[in-house]
Amino acid sequence: MISLSNVSKIYKSKLKGSQPVKAVQNIDLDVDKGEIFGIIGYSGAGKSTLIRMLNGLEAPTDGSISVAGREMSKIRGSELRKARQEISMIFQHFNLLWSRTVRENIAFPLEIAGVSREQRLNRVDELIKLVGLEGREDAYPSQLSGGQKQRVGIARALANNPKVLLCDEATSALDPQTTDSILDLLQDINERLGLTIVLITHEMHVIRKICHRVAVMEGGQVVELGKVLDVFKHPEKPITKRFVQQITEPEETKDTISHLAAEFGQGMVIQLSFAGDDAEKPVITHLIRHFDVEVNILQGKISPTQNGSYGTLFIHMLGDEAEVSRAMAYLNESKIGIEVIENA
Ligand SMILES: Nc1ncnc2c1ncn2[C@@H]1O[C@H](COP(=O)(O)OP(=O)(O)OP(=O)(O)O)[C@@H](O)[C@H]1O
Ligand SMILES: [Mg+2]
Repeated sequence: MISLSNVSKIYKSKLKGSQPVKAVQNIDLDVDKGEIFGIIGYSGAGKSTLIRMLNGLEAPTDGSISVAGREMSKIRGSELRKARQEISMIFQHFNLLWSRTVRENIAFPLEIAGVSREQRLNRVDELIKLVGLEGREDAYPSQLSGGQKQRVGIARALANNPKVLLCDEATSALDPQTTDSILDLLQDINERLGLTIVLITHEMHVIRKICHRVAVMEGGQVVELGKVLDVFKHPEKPITKRFVQQITEPEETKDTISHLAAEFGQGMVIQLSFAGDDAEKPVITHLIRHFDVEVNILQGKISPTQNGSYGTLFIHMLGDEAEVSRAMAYLNESKIGIEVIENA
């Protein structure tokens, strides 16, 4: 559905003497039809620049971008306008028209596309149901919650039956619960309409919850790319590890673990990571039954992704040296991820 080949974007600074900014550098990327593809990176990584090139809001300095069968850098005028109806976008701050009601906001792209009044009314009703805004049709944006505003943004973006939906930090202005409800809606739309979705975010939670694949961006480049579960299992770059840690070991977890470990005084604290089918294996049971070690579970967490679950378990293990090393050898062989956090 989307194919980027060697795409770069350089902004020439208007200030005298300052260096041009390489916002995006040599990116190759393919997004399949019906996929939810996530792009994660810190501020300034080039995410917005990249996504804005997908709908022709920015032109690449180099390389080629094809979206839904169109070569974006070659089209102009009416063809570009037509392409933009097929590649729609939602934004962090919703970008709604404040003097128009919910209904009128959603109808806006239909008016531009020259859809008749009657068809518009029908389509708007359909969209209102799809995004769950029944009863709020005549409200103004200022009367809506953040989540409701984003629902209007989504309905408006879907009005002309796009093939691709681009989301630039669409949940970054929302609280965690509202974020989840909007992510559920996006997933539902993806499944029901087979819509291809590209979303950018700086939160791994968003990637974990709905994306099939993820690209990690740093300094204008894609530094890591893969299925979400695989990236969780084997993050390679330091930046990717940091993003994965947002989910597997938030700061509070680390504090709790070192606090609990300190209470034991001696023994080992080990972090086990399970992914996909490995999560089903009774590793802990085996450990307790077959080795003369004492095992205490400190904390555990399972994070479901679109390609299977990823779990982390912190345990404390105590025993004599030989038994502990036999137990460690078993863990090493069992294909789960193990990391010794403390050894006292
Ligand atoms: N119109 C512009 N003119 C000049 N430089 C720009 C322009 N737009 C972006 N940049 C620069 O390009 C780089 C990438 O910016 P971009 O907005 O794509 O990052 P981002 O990953 O979306 O960041 P954020 O998470 O803060 O939104 C930054 O260094 C930014 O300052
Ligand atoms: Mg941005």
